[in-house]
Amino acid sequence: MTEVLFKPSAKRAQAVPGTNVLELARGLKLNITSACGGKGKCGKCKVLIEEGREALNAYTDAELQLLSPQERERGYRLSCAISVPDLPRFTITVPSEVEAGMLRLQVEGLEVPLALAPLVRKYVTTLSQATMEDNRSDEDRLLDTLQREHGLANLALSYEGAKQLPSAMEQGQGVITSIIWEQSRIIAIEPGDTASQCFGLAVDIGTTKIACFLVDLNSGQLTAVSSSLNPQTPYGEDVVSRIAFALESQDNLSKLQEVVLEGINQMVEESCKQVGCRPEHIYEGCFVGNTCMMHLFLGLSPKHLAFSPYCPVVRKGLTLEARRLPFSLRMHHNAMLYALPAVAGFVGADNIAVQLTMEPSRSEKPRLILDIGTNTEIVLQNGDSALACSCASGPAFEGMQVKHGMKAEAGAIEKVEIDPTSLEVDFQTIGGRKPIGICGSGVVDALAQFLSTGIMGRNGRMNGELAQRTPRMRKGTQGWEFVIAWDEETAIDSDIVITQEDISELQKAKAAIHSGCVLLLKQGGVGEEDITELVVAGAFGQYLNPESARIIGMYPEIPLEQVQVVGNAAGTGARMALVSKEARQRAEEISHQVRYYELGADPDFMREYANSMFFPYANLDKFPQTKKLLEEISHG
Ligand code: FES
Repeated sequence: MTEVLFKPSAKRAQAVPGTNVLELARGLKLNITSACGGKGKCGKCKVLIEEGREALNAYTDAELQLLSPQERERGYRLSCAISVPDLPRFTITVPSEVEAGMLRLQVEGLEVPLALAPLVRKYVTTLSQATMEDNRSDEDRLLDTLQREHGLANLALSYEGAKQLPSAMEQGQGVITSIIWEQSRIIAIEPGDTASQCFGLAVDIGTTKIACFLVDLNSGQLTAVSSSLNPQTPYGEDVVSRIAFALESQDNLSKLQEVVLEGINQMVEESCKQVGCRPEHIYEGCFVGNTCMMHLFLGLSPKHLAFSPYCPVVRKGLTLEARRLPFSLRMHHNAMLYALPAVAGFVGADNIAVQLTMEPSRSEKPRLILDIGTNTEIVLQNGDSALACSCASGPAFEGMQVKHGMKAEAGAIEKVEIDPTSLEVDFQTIGGRKPIGICGSGVVDALAQFLSTGIMGRNGRMNGELAQRTPRMRKGTQGWEFVIAWDEETAIDSDIVITQEDISELQKAKAAIHSGCVLLLKQGGVGEEDITELVVAGAFGQYLNPESARIIGMYPEIPLEQVQVVGNAAGTGARMALVSKEARQRAEEISHQVRYYELGADPDFMREYANSMFFPYANLDKFPQTKKLLEEISHG
């Protein structure tokens, strides 16, 4: 056995020589970034070998391609490509930019007024003892009392409730609390009066992060919020690599389900600790997520989501008992779960939840709702109808496929300003730390600044001539690059740059989103000038500078006062469905109203996409504000 030490977390393991290092790290719950799911394609899982370097397997082809000679010289390896050597001790450092954690999460969401009408309610009753004169069954006495005292007719006592009834009556000396679901079924009985302890859980399962909201079902108040990385991340950073992992075997699918439930359980424990309540007093859970995440959470095969026409196994909302899941959830044993409905394979329950949240402010007038992520979902609401599409915007705005890209974590550059004269850079990081990379909102700012200062042209090409004016513009291994932060300013001992290749990736992402907007508007027969509101939701959205996004042409140019950035609206939608039966019904109605539009089948897609590859767009007249800005700058 080899003693393996991971630094700086100091996590240790006794491992059999030959064990894959990435697998070992996953087993220790170390979140090593592994965008390709360990397939040797992304190069994100690199680790520094401190001790035992010489005994490792030879460099793989992937390592020779993905690690620079300098990195190899310094001892970097790809953790997915190496095995634990046969040595007494093997020490590895996981660089901070590789170990995921401390996400800046959007868990506040919106507060939307809503009438409180949860499906689960508690009723306290005092049951008399059976006598010779009153020899009704315990069940009959309970049902009669609930009808008489609380007006609840036609109730049914569940098998689990029946099992709990005698001991609850005994322990509570006749006083019992019935937990009733949907005014129709007694799902559990507790001894004594526990009416004040009635909680529900709303969960937003994102590809990257999970947010949990603990809600007091008596008041509808949010009592605790917790969030964490989706523990499935080490098995693939995006939906596609996670589906590929799940399809390798039934065990893999189970593993993904198990780890996500474990992750939720940890958050439940954390939330309950904050509030001082017991997980057993959580009686209902409402879950949203993209269609793939919901399939994995429910243990449904995501196979058909991988191939056109990308059909989900289930589309309608699904109600089930928590105990039916193969891995237990930290809630009451008889708790009920509700998974919100989806629209299609790539427009999921999270999108329905976003629409549900925005429902109170819905008017007859057309509005666009963008939920930006690896897959950007766009909804055009117009009157009673809605049209939705999904565009593969890729992970570039979430920090992947960008040389120094990273998620919105502590140390990520989130804001960038460039002086048009000196081309000097002013940046701001999350948490005020020394930068270790740049996240999506920083990248959007940088692109807007590149465009407005002439560092990059409208076709996305960097202006290499500026190398004569500033050392920040220089030739790197991937062509021209611009230095955002010098190595002495960073925590990674190297400059943080945006390269020409990064711009190409971002250009494709923004082109996908913009062309999606344009084609959806065309399909819906709505002109850009008719849009009265543009809503930007999602983890990325909350920190996005709407002006920068507009300058680069991420979406049509509409007045900034009509752009609303709403953060995690999906989590808010899940909470609404938790505390309101009506909201749940509305979610089902919305899912029926929304028509899915397959962008790939639009004959104009390629043309629109090509036009959208320009910053902000091929025809500058469609972006009068940016046009004016560029003219002002060119005139000095
Ligand atoms: S290269 Fe190792 S996880 Fe992608």
